Amino acid sequence: MKKIAIAIDGPAAAGKSTVAKIVAHKMKYKYIDTGAMYRAVTFHLLDNDIDIYNEDEISTLLSNIQIQFKQEENGQHIFLNGKDITDDIRTDEVTNNVSTVSSHAAVRKEMVRRQQEFVEERGIVMDGRDIGTHVIPDAEVKFYLVASVDERAERRFIENEKRGYKTDINQIKKEIRERDLQDMQREVSPLVKADDAIEIDTTSYTIQQVADRMYDQINKVI
Ligand code: DC
Repeated sequence: MKKIAIAIDGPAAAGKSTVAKIVAHKMKYKYIDTGAMYRAVTFHLLDNDIDIYNEDEISTLLSNIQIQFKQEENGQHIFLNGKDITDDIRTDEVTNNVSTVSSHAAVRKEMVRRQQEFVEERGIVMDGRDIGTHVIPDAEVKFYLVASVDERAERRFIENEKRGYKTDINQIKKEIRERDLQDMQREVSPLVKADDAIEIDTTSYTIQQVADRMYDQINKVI
C-alpha cells in the first residue's frame, strides 16, 4: 500500500490532534503535533524570562532549542533539550502566549524547516495551522477541520477538567476567539484553508465519525 502524507489544519480546539492520533495509530503512521513545537519554544522563552516580542533575540536562541518527540506507553511525549515538557506546554500561560511567539517569521522559518525534515519519508500525519499550505503543500490528502466556538470551548473545558484544571467556560471562549484572530491575521503564513483541502465541520460529529470520513478520503488515494 502506498505511504502518503496527511495534513490536518484548522483553528484551536477543532479536534485536530485527537483525530490525527487516531488516524496515525490506525495507519501505523508517524504523528507530528506542530502546535506542540511552537508551544515548546514559548515555554522555553517564558521559563528563561525572555521577551516574547523580541524577535531578534529569539532568533539567536532558536539553535539552542532542541525539540524531540518520543512515543511512550501513555502516548506521545515532547522533550525540550532532553527534558520532558509534555504537561508544561499545556498551561494557560503557554496557551495565551503561543500565538505571539508563532507569529515571528524567524520562529516559523525554523519550525517549518524542522517539520519538513520529518516529512522526508512519507507515512506521516501532521497537524497544525499551515501544514497543507506551507509545510507539506504536496500532501496527498489535506483536511481543514472547523467547529463552532461554543463546541470548541466545551471540548477544552472538559479536557481541562480531566487534567484537573478548573476553568471558566466564558474565559475559554474569549481566549479561543482571540487565538483564532491572531492565528488568522498574522502576516507570515496565517491560518487559512488550502484550496485543495477537504473541510469538515466537526461540531455535530463524534471523533470516530470524523475519523471515518477521513478514512473514506484516504482510501481513495492509497
Ligand atoms: O494546536 P495548538 O493549539 O497546540 O497550537 C498552538 C499555537 O501554535 C496556535 O495558536 C498557533 C500556533 N501554530 C502555528 O502557528 N502553526 C502551526 N502549524 C501549529 C500551531
